[in-house]
Amino acid sequence: MCGIVGYIGTQAATEILLSGLEKLEYRGYDSAGIATIWENEVNCIRAKGKLYNLRSKLEQVETPAQIGIGHTRWATHGKPEEYNAHPHMDAAMRIAVVVNGIIENYSELREELKHKGYQFRSDTDVEVIPHLIAEFLKHSPSSVLPLCPSIFLEAVRDTVHKLKGAFAIALICADYPDELIVVRQQAPIVIGFGQGEFFCASDTPAIISHTRAVLPLENREIGRLTPLGVEIYNFAGERLKKQPRLLNLNPMMVEKQGFKHFMLKEIYEQPGVVRACLDAYFHANWNVGDSTNSPIKLGLSTEIYANLEQIQIVACGTSWHAALVGKYLIEQLAEIPTQVHYASEFRYAPSPLTPNTLTIGVTQSGETADTLAALAMEQERRQHKEPKYQARLLGITNRPESTLGHMVPHIINTLAGIEIGVAATKTFIAQLMAFYALALDLAYLRNSISPTRLQEIINGLRQIPGEIEATLEKQEHSIEQLAHEFAETKDFIFVGRGINFPIALEGALKLKEISYIHAEGYPAGEMKHGPIALLDAKVPVVAIAMPGSVYEKVISNAQEAKARDSRLIGVTPINGTQAAEIFDNLIPVSKVDELLSPILTLIPLQLLAYHIAALRGLDVDQPRNLAKSVTVE
Ligand code: AGP
Repeated sequence: MCGIVGYIGTQAATEILLSGLEKLEYRGYDSAGIATIWENEVNCIRAKGKLYNLRSKLEQVETPAQIGIGHTRWATHGKPEEYNAHPHMDAAMRIAVVVNGIIENYSELREELKHKGYQFRSDTDVEVIPHLIAEFLKHSPSSVLPLCPSIFLEAVRDTVHKLKGAFAIALICADYPDELIVVRQQAPIVIGFGQGEFFCASDTPAIISHTRAVLPLENREIGRLTPLGVEIYNFAGERLKKQPRLLNLNPMMVEKQGFKHFMLKEIYEQPGVVRACLDAYFHANWNVGDSTNSPIKLGLSTEIYANLEQIQIVACGTSWHAALVGKYLIEQLAEIPTQVHYASEFRYAPSPLTPNTLTIGVTQSGETADTLAALAMEQERRQHKEPKYQARLLGITNRPESTLGHMVPHIINTLAGIEIGVAATKTFIAQLMAFYALALDLAYLRNSISPTRLQEIINGLRQIPGEIEATLEKQEHSIEQLAHEFAETKDFIFVGRGINFPIALEGALKLKEISYIHAEGYPAGEMKHGPIALLDAKVPVVAIAMPGSVYEKVISNAQEAKARDSRLIGVTPINGTQAAEIFDNLIPVSKVDELLSPILTLIPLQLLAYHIAALRGLDVDQPRNLAKSVTVE
């Protein structure tokens, strides 16, 4: 959602802030702004809409300021208008503040401040902050107290004690032109260390082209950045000793590298991601005869697995679809009852407590507010219970450095790296790989499948990267051609069964997210219980028909759709006359073990969504209203 960038150093701040914000565009936003300090004044420029609007405004007021903060806002409180855009300032226009997250108690603070005579210029929750700081500064001593490093810092500290909610803040003040203050309370912010210059950002892509030495703040920490260095304090005001670490992120990862869109580049990165997961999760030399070692090396501690009776998974959106595939794998391979919950539902209506239960949170950003809250709730409601009810929390994410990574004791790093396109592609496939590894590890430990079958599945998985490459190579052009026929389509239906039902959901989600075409995914057998009423010649149906336990069923469900005049598109390895009789269009994929087929059937659906959206001339990487990291409830 929103993005924060900050700079203090010896270079002109404005361009560094703007290009940093450009690197955060993928998170989704609807207005932006920058505040710098020059000649004892704060210069604050804001603009509605995309960053080029802000850039053209800034071109008219160039300053050589060497300190500043910038923000991209995704509207929560108040419309996406310039007056609601960050930075927000105090009445005297001395203090500028940018915030990610939500100040939950803003209305009572606003009332308090109004009683004191403060006037508000925006509808946001955030504007209380500069006014509160101004109020504290009004009552501050005129010189620094012995144990207080900075009056500005103290006023910020007093202010954050009054705030409730989850937020990250960056602030500057014209009266303290050598200080940039950053605060973290349950929303991410990192500090970057350069040569005589320092940065802050809500996500690392914003600063990766300047430095790889970063220090992510922990909850309830405050950073004070000056030209001389960085000091870290806790909310109690105690100074903490912290060392930056080196980021394993290459600036090239946040470039398009010749692809028209990040989404297409990330679709093409998938074979590499699957290979990375295979290398990381599976022992290269395991064989059927090896009865003492698991073929899987997830590095999870035994306390996660001991006496396991139940698994519950919380997630949102695409990660929820990965969780559905995970449930299928865990139940069918390891025979452990598994429930999948929308995190946003689970947090208000959790299942009754069950003993020896593993709770898994799946999230590509590692920052999704509902998923984090569901996990926190699970931790809390189990903490005073007897040992078998104690929480066991596992996170599945490609961002182990995220809030999720700090929150849960065990993580499976899905090795997809950072994903820039808002529509999840490579992070989804990596989540699937994590579930294959977890389900197979559990199956091995519980002896629920034979070593031969285990070996067969692993061998099959090893073929998958090549199969994805072949699908990309052979099918992309024809899928692009096919997409031309649907550029004006209004509704789409995707059907699948068994392990491919979640892929039908994912195919529909991808299409609606980026093309704005209405699309629904159904288990093929459910069509005749209602949705079939929607079908006619204008509503194409994409059927995922992979040989295996439900193949015949999917085919007959597809024929029912065809009998209602729907144009039928088959994602299937079945070719020849039979296929030609049933499907109007074929998107062939290789024949693989049914259990592994989701990793392959997914690819054409991603490409179809991508090409339809691209043909419609839409902003594929930053679809309207969506954010990469959904940090509000
Ligand atoms: C995926 O294409 C979507 N942008 C969205 O559904 C996403 O999967 C969802 O918001 C959950 O995000 P997370 O994986 O970061 O928790």
